[in-house]
Amino acid sequence: MANDDNIPLNRRERAALSPAKRQSIIKNLFVEHDRFKDAITAIGSFHMPVEGGDPDFGVLTTLCGDSRTGKTFTLERYAKRFPASDGTRGVIRRVVYCDMPIDCNLRAMAEQIADALNFPHSQRLNTRGLVGAVLLEIKKQAVEFLILDEFQEAFDVSRKKNLRDARGFLRKILNLRSLNVCAAGLVETYELLAADAKLKGRGLLPHHLLHAYEWDDPADQKLFRLLCASIDDRLPFRENSNLGSIALAQRLYWVTDGVIGILKEFLFAAACRAMNADADRIEMHFLADAWDVRKPIGQTFNPFVDDLKDAPSKEEQTLPKPPRNKFDDGIFSKK
Ligand SMILES: Nc1ncnc2c1ncn2[C@@H]1O[C@H](COP(=O)(O)OP(=O)(O)OP(=O)(O)O)[C@@H](O)[C@H]1O
Ligand SMILES: [Mg+2]
Repeated sequence: MANDDNIPLNRRERAALSPAKRQSIIKNLFVEHDRFKDAITAIGSFHMPVEGGDPDFGVLTTLCGDSRTGKTFTLERYAKRFPASDGTRGVIRRVVYCDMPIDCNLRAMAEQIADALNFPHSQRLNTRGLVGAVLLEIKKQAVEFLILDEFQEAFDVSRKKNLRDARGFLRKILNLRSLNVCAAGLVETYELLAADAKLKGRGLLPHHLLHAYEWDDPADQKLFRLLCASIDDRLPFRENSNLGSIALAQRLYWVTDGVIGILKEFLFAAACRAMNADADRIEMHFLADAWDVRKPIGQTFNPFVDDLKDAPSKEEQTLPKPPRNKFDDGIFSKK
């Protein structure tokens, strides 16, 4: 399942690397897990619906899912498969990835796409001119697939003008009839796009949902365990940490809700502790220590120490109100 670039395949060789190299292996670990494979296949089909056929055009597609489920990671990896090349009339960029800046408006959206196309633009060019130039550049660079990540930033219902502009710009790009667009973001983004008849009409909005793993679903539970085992296989420790065993995977699930991004961060934290102790593997107490400094304030339960049947419910896990500041007694806020 796991597959990575430039990492020694032998566990002992990896464990013998310098601390910095071992740290970097864990931080940059790539796992070709089930959700990733499904998502990258879906993205590929949004770009080229027929294997060995031509790129499609004029269709708006979406990739959505909860935060940290791996949307950006997957999209960037897909885009890397298509490096820029030199054509007879200049640079060709078949697949362009760009992410929308926070609270972006039409200008910021156009600037971000221009940057991804490596197209210089000046503040003197008005927004209308910039949008036109970006559309021309998309054609000129023969872009086949434009990925707009973090699209919820451009599709914010509370900012009506921006929303209208973003919709209009998307339609103009699709009307070029030379490329497909993939808007990626949180699930609400899909709902907003789907509610726009003009956009939905451009290809019926094919979408892919990147879900977290579900422990209660037996098939998913197996996949989550496989993911944990696969990360374990790639770690730079002399011995396997048995992360894919039911006992450990279930505890890791409890901490991470089956979300790859959270799992990776948590294991990184525990692995750092294990490296500092020159341990042969990530022992349970390193996981316990890592959770101790990450659990919600006021919570005493630790899944790596306590029995899971005593675990608090998710509602109970919400952060308690911070203790009142002793100076915050209302005196200073009185008018
Ligand atoms: N297949 C994978 N292998 C290894 N690490 C991964 C994989 N997929 C995601 N990650 C890691 O998980 C973390 C979260 O991924 P990513 O940023 O892609 O999530 P996201 O869905 O885009 O989240 P957000 O909605 O918050 O932007 C990142 O640190 C990323 O490196
Ligand atoms: Mg992202």
